[in-house]
Formats: sequence, C-alpha cells, structure tokens
Amino acid sequence: MRILVTGKEGQVDTSLQALADTQPDIELIRIGLPEADLSRPETLDSLVRGARPDVIVSSAAYTAVDKAESEADLAQRINGDGPGRLAQLAAELNIPILHLSTDYVFAGDKDGVYDEDDTPAPVSVYGKTKLSGEDQIRAATPNHVVLRTAWVYSPYGNNFVKTMLRLGETRDEINVVADQHGCPTYAPEIARALLAVARKVAADADPGLRGVFHLTGEGETTWAGFARGIFEGAGKRGRKPVAVNDIPTSAYPTPASRPANSRLSGKKLKNVYGLSLDPWRVSLAECLDQLCGPEI
Ligand SMILES: NC(=O)c1ccc[n+]([C@@H]2O[C@H](COP(=O)([O-])OP(=O)(O)OC[C@H]3O[C@@H](n4cnc5c(N)ncnc54)[C@H](OP(=O)(O)O)[C@@H]3O)[C@@H](O)[C@H]2O)c1
Repeated sequence: MRILVTGKEGQVDTSLQALADTQPDIELIRIGLPEADLSRPETLDSLVRGARPDVIVSSAAYTAVDKAESEADLAQRINGDGPGRLAQLAAELNIPILHLSTDYVFAGDKDGVYDEDDTPAPVSVYGKTKLSGEDQIRAATPNHVVLRTAWVYSPYGNNFVKTMLRLGETRDEINVVADQHGCPTYAPEIARALLAVARKVAADADPGLRGVFHLTGEGETTWAGFARGIFEGAGKRGRKPVAVNDIPTSAYPTPASRPANSRLSGKKLKNVYGLSLDPWRVSLAECLDQLCGPEI
C-alpha cells in the first residue's frame, strides 16, 4: 500500500516513517517544504498525482499556537486551504484521506470529556484554522477520516517533554500551568493508529468508518501533572530532581487562549475501529527511554 503523508520533519510524519520501515507492504511517500508548500496549495497537485497513492495522510500543519495569533492568514492557508486542496485531490483520485486535527477546536468549557458530537468553538487562531481544515475536507470528499489528537510528544521535533527536559538541566524548580486539562499523546502511537485506520479504509468502503474520531493517549492530566510525570521518569533515568510548582493560566499569559478542558473521549475509535492508544504514562516511559536512556 502506498501512503502519501504531508510533512518531512514533523513528529507524526517521522513516527509514521519509523513504523513504515518495519512493515514491508507499506511504501511511505513524504512530501513537504520546500517543494510541497501547504500555504501554496497549487504546489501539491503534481506531487500528489505523480505519487499515485492509495491513501493520503494529512499531517503537516502550522502548529505554532501562539505565533498563529499574529500570522492568521498564513496559518489559515496551511491549516485550512492546503488540507482542503489535498482532500480535493483525494476525491479526484478516488482514495481516502486521513487528516489530523486538534483538541483546540473546542472552547474548553464543557464539564466532561469531549466526544465527536460536541460542537467545536475554537478560542484561538490555530484552533479556528484547524477547524477550517476539517470543514474543507468534509466539503471536498465523504471519503475522509478526521482524527483529532492532542498534546503530542515524541523523541522527534519540538514538544513539551523535550522542553521540560531542557529546562530541567539548568533549573531546580519550574512553574507549570495546572488548570488546563488534556490528554498527552505519543506520536508513535498516533502513527500506529493511522496505519491501522489506513489499512481498514483502503479495504472497506463502509461509511461508518468515515467521519470524525478522537485519537488521544488514554488517561488525562494537566500540564503540571505531565511535567511531574516527566521529571519523575527522568529522575529514574539518572537526571537530577526538578520540582514542579502549580500555577494558574492567569500567571502565564500567552498570545493565544487555550481551552481549560480539552479532554477527548476515545470511545468512538474503540467501538468502530477496535483501537485505543496506550495510557500516556506508559508511552511517556517509552519516550524517556529514548531521550534519557533506560531506567537505572
Ligand atoms: N503538536 C501537538 O501538540 C498537536 C496537538 C494536536 C493536534 N496536532 C496536529 O497533529 C498534526 C501533526 O503534528 P506534529 O506535532 O507532527 O507537527 P510538527 O512536529 O509541528 O510538524 C509539522 C510539520 O508540518 C510541516 N509544515 C509546516 N508548514 C508547512 C507548509 N507550509 N507546507 C508543508 N509542510 C509544512 C513542518 O515542516 P517544517 O519542519 O519544515 O516546518 C513539519 O514537518 C498536525 O496536523 C497538528 O495540527 C498536533
């Protein structure tokens, strides 16, 4: 099976490459900057058509949540119009498209976990542009699977785990926001699910397999809880102790607002696809093994 994925150095596309390398029947074609530029959707056409994929995975995005507040047009082109064009190409080629979206499409004022029927109401430019991507994909082809994920980390690229480990090298204590609740998600686990979904939709036209699904690591925490998990795990691998002080969001102002609650329910993915991701603490241990070495 030939899978075309957008992104050449992102967390998810790199994880997908690592997984594809272990699966002889999968040929992964990664397209990205500079030749495939989502902000110039016309650059995608000949590359996608020429690759003759069986499935498209739309992973690349403008992911700088705060910077997007001052680059709304660029973020809209990359997160909205680029994926929209990819979905038109998927429709033209009569193949499915899998698209990664975000928990930040929600406002964060719900009392419980968000499921797929809840109404998005993004509070940031990033969230609005990602929702536009979802909408443009839905409009272009019914043969889509939108997978909303959250708080992505991995040994690759930039993410919260790597930032905490870097800050922990020079600090004994760190203030971390303790009133935003979400689900840390390990990019290699996203890759595992993407591949399983790709295999299924490539072989089965059932409309029940299409639509929007939530895809996050099992369990939930806050950024401060996540940070504590990181430093506990790093400590077991020989790093020095770092204390985490809980602070409210109001004490850490950022250009973009973030939802106070963006916990996503994975029930639909489990019911329809029989898929669930490992608990975030299990995946975090795997990630720390790679970044800090094994427990000592
Ligand atoms: N990271 C998170 O916490 C998070 C949370 C929820 C949802 N998601 C979604 O999950 C998906 C994967 O995220 P990730 O963490 O793997 O992202 P990432 O590590 O930030 O990687 C993003 C990728 O997109 C590429 N890209 C940026 N602008 C582009 C453009 N104009 N044209 C083509 N490619 C471009 C980047 O290329 P360069 O490296 O060359 O810039 C990079 O390869 C995204 O759709 C994101 O919205 C992520």
